[in-house]
Amino acid sequence: MIRGVTGLSNEIVENVFLFIAAISVSILVLITFLMIYFTVRYRRQRNPQPEDIRGNLWLEILWTVIPTLLVLSMFYYGWTGFSSLKKIPEGAFKVKVTARSWSWLFEYENGVKAEELVIPVGKPIHLLLTSLDVIHSFYIPAFRVKQDAVPGMVTPLWFQAKEAGTYDVLCAEYCGQQHAYMLTKVKAISGDEFNQWYEGKGKELRAEKSKGLPRGPQLLQEKGCLVCHSLDGTSRIGPTLKGLSGKAVTVLTDGKEKKIPADDAYLKKSLIEPNADVVKGFPPIMPSQKSLLTEEEINELVRYMKELK
Ligand code: CUA
Repeated sequence: MIRGVTGLSNEIVENVFLFIAAISVSILVLITFLMIYFTVRYRRQRNPQPEDIRGNLWLEILWTVIPTLLVLSMFYYGWTGFSSLKKIPEGAFKVKVTARSWSWLFEYENGVKAEELVIPVGKPIHLLLTSLDVIHSFYIPAFRVKQDAVPGMVTPLWFQAKEAGTYDVLCAEYCGQQHAYMLTKVKAISGDEFNQWYEGKGKELRAEKSKGLPRGPQLLQEKGCLVCHSLDGTSRIGPTLKGLSGKAVTVLTDGKEKKIPADDAYLKKSLIEPNADVVKGFPPIMPSQKSLLTEEEINELVRYMKELK
């Protein structure tokens, strides 16, 4: 029995790719060679009287059996490779991944949240992906893995880093205006370094928790607000949050322009019903944060926004 393709995701994908590429290139070379050879060998000058050859059982059998075997072998390697990509090794290290327009959030089992995926080298990593809004696709080219993140669903993905390093993460499903900027990194570090990082972050988190609610700056970071809203006065895809409170803002409500004060009620409404009163000059694309924030978090964000002079 031939062994199927197993191993790390990048090796599996590369092996299958090379196998199929090798077969394709061999066939291309063979066909090109025969084509040139026959053109020369049977040119009119040398072969003025064409011959009509009909039927050759052995040839028919040969050109049915050989391609069938080739195609089946491609299927076999593809299938066994795909199966081992789908089979998550036992004891893999779990990390929850939440996609939203337009950033990624990683959540570890000890509650630590991060914007970049920090992982130990040499350990299988089991990602549990989901999305808060539309379909995104989590893609790490270096490990040859890609998996959709679908709202209301948890989709699994596993991979393992062989060497320490920083690897790009992309979103591979068009998910709106900032799709191309939905980027982050995988940071693979040695097991010891990782344990240190993991425990250190865990301690920080417990210390913060004992102080009470997460604070405004941390919420803005964790909830992905800063992808679209700056704190320094520059406009991104959405208006800056700096100096907003107390100012009168020009908004479009049902297509009509009006000026309203950016008071508590307005700030709150902008989180729950962001597209009711849209600041003039910006597209009405912010997803509602209603189900994504608790009452307390909303109050904290409003309090913090008023502080941003
Ligand atoms: Cu998220 Cu494209």
